[in-house]
Amino acid sequence: MNTETTPAPKIRARAVYKTYDTASGPTAAVQDFNLDVADGEFVAIVGPSGCGKSTFLRMVAGLEGISSGSITITPGPEKDRPSNSVVFQEYAIFPWKTVIENVAFGLQMRGIPARERLEVARSWLDRVGLAKFADYYPHQISGGMKQRVSIVRALANDPEVLLMDEPLGALDAQTRVVLQEELLRIWEETRKTVLYITHSLEEAVLLGDRVVLMSAQPGRILEIYDIGLPRPRSFGTTTLPEFAEYRAMIWDKLSAEVTRAMEMQK
Ligand SMILES: Nc1ncnc2c1ncn2[C@@H]1O[C@H](COP(=O)(O)OP(=O)(O)OP(=O)(O)O)[C@@H](O)[C@H]1O
Ligand SMILES: [Mg+2]
Repeated sequence: MNTETTPAPKIRARAVYKTYDTASGPTAAVQDFNLDVADGEFVAIVGPSGCGKSTFLRMVAGLEGISSGSITITPGPEKDRPSNSVVFQEYAIFPWKTVIENVAFGLQMRGIPARERLEVARSWLDRVGLAKFADYYPHQISGGMKQRVSIVRALANDPEVLLMDEPLGALDAQTRVVLQEELLRIWEETRKTVLYITHSLEEAVLLGDRVVLMSAQPGRILEIYDIGLPRPRSFGTTTLPEFAEYRAMIWDKLSAEVTRAMEMQK
């Protein structure tokens, strides 16, 4: 009899290595990476620039081959659900499509009829205050709005996992805070499984159930921190003494890695 009660992780990475072939020989980008992300968990990844964060995320997304090891995304019971959707730092939305057409694009690709997909897209635009801009083109809206469009486009797809690589990285500080709060709200409603890369340790601690700290290149996992801050979280969470404690504890190690990465580049 199967007495297993722990559900399979949504994302399972085992002994993952990635080596790029470059003009100056092989470059080890990711080394012996092992990570389980539970269904409905929000995992943030931080590490010095060039440590292999994007490489790992792209491998999870299937956009990059794995040199050795394995990455699996466990499908849920729902049929025809895409395995993942990715949100990048650059607003990867089609300039020739309107806001609502962009949000509905993934559903269109899956053959969902126009009426239904526009209805889904409209309800997502509503949730992020963009309903009025449904028929605008990307060049007619601000950077913050464009990134909202990218995010809800990924969510409208209803993927098994949401993969985000510095999604708020290009935004000004105030817009970033607003979008962090929006992301928190949406995530707390949807409980999507999220893998989230950020250069901001504050953002990682604010959003994540766990924070994965990667080493300087080649990227290995140095430490995984459980962030026990209460939910729902908001910008106010950043003023809690525990928030400062988590940030200080992780920064201690992260800053050492950032210094090490810089030394390596000399
Ligand atoms: N297509 C590629 N070909 C060769 N080397 C690559 C390629 N993509 C990334 N690299 C190298 O692999 C390493 C990891 O890169 P990656 O982009 O994953 O880092 P990162 O942690 O996302 O950095 P950042 O924080 O600056 O975005 C770097 O040394 C980079 O130069
Ligand atoms: Mg990157």
